[in-house]
Amino acid sequence: MIRIGFYGHDDDMAAWRRTLATRLPAFEISRLLEPAGQECDVALVWAPPPGALSDCPNLRGIIMQGQGVDHMMHDTTVPRDLPLVRLVDPDMASALSQWALLCALDFWRDGDHYRTAQAEKRWDPRPQRPAAGGRVGILGVGAIGSVIASRFAALGFAVRGYARSPKSIDGIEMFVGADQLNAFAEDLQIVVSVLPLTPDTTGIIDAGFLNRVTPGAFVINGGRGPQIIDDDLLAALDSGHVGGAALDVFATEPLPQTHRYWTHPNVRVWPHVAAQTNAETAADQVAAAIDSIMAGRRPKNQVDWARGY
Ligand code: GLV
Repeated sequence: MIRIGFYGHDDDMAAWRRTLATRLPAFEISRLLEPAGQECDVALVWAPPPGALSDCPNLRGIIMQGQGVDHMMHDTTVPRDLPLVRLVDPDMASALSQWALLCALDFWRDGDHYRTAQAEKRWDPRPQRPAAGGRVGILGVGAIGSVIASRFAALGFAVRGYARSPKSIDGIEMFVGADQLNAFAEDLQIVVSVLPLTPDTTGIIDAGFLNRVTPGAFVINGGRGPQIIDDDLLAALDSGHVGGAALDVFATEPLPQTHRYWTHPNVRVWPHVAAQTNAETAADQVAAAIDSIMAGRRPKNQVDWARGY
């Protein structure tokens, strides 16, 4: 009997029980923080509280219900000698790219202007901006960012990608490492971040970065909140140098009531919904990871603690 300890959104436990049922031999799934959960062989978690995994004597591996593992990196009680697996779900890459395109195209095609005009019953056409040649930069071109980059390129945008190590993606101009960050940012009209949160990416979108983008540019963050220096972005939005932002992730979530992002006219706040974990599409890889962990094999998508994702 495989014992799975679950931590995450309450409704999701039933979904995982159902989708794993056809993929695993006998198993039971219990809440991680209850006594049965603490007996687990495998933990299936999203943002467990610090210390949640330190008292599980049978634990053989940890599987995340999402792509980001930054919560785990910050919890020094998470056992680092056990495999930690992150989801790499094409359905989530697709969902995040739909969201990024939705935000970018709404900006590009003046959605705000036309909504305001409609509210005032004004027929007020603006010249249409062609996608061709529009400069879009994707910060982070891994499993998710490469899909986003290719979809922007398919619409005709001139797409740049920024990564920490060299890679090539058809039709995308690549910039590698901190030395090339300034050149990446130069004159961008749309910036999309889907970076993992690491010490290198914390605060990567700061005043220096924002000063380089084209006046009126649009910033989209689907990575992690701390990648943006909020005061720098707000200053750039106030001055009009940055024309708008769509943010799905924040340094503190839920976004505090008093935060200026809520009320800034040029900021679109999304409550961390751009790509939600799908227990249907991710079940095969979670089952495969459980299988590998139970058999003592290295699971796919095992996190590299030193790299931070
Ligand atoms: C969502 O933010 C995830 O990391 O999967």
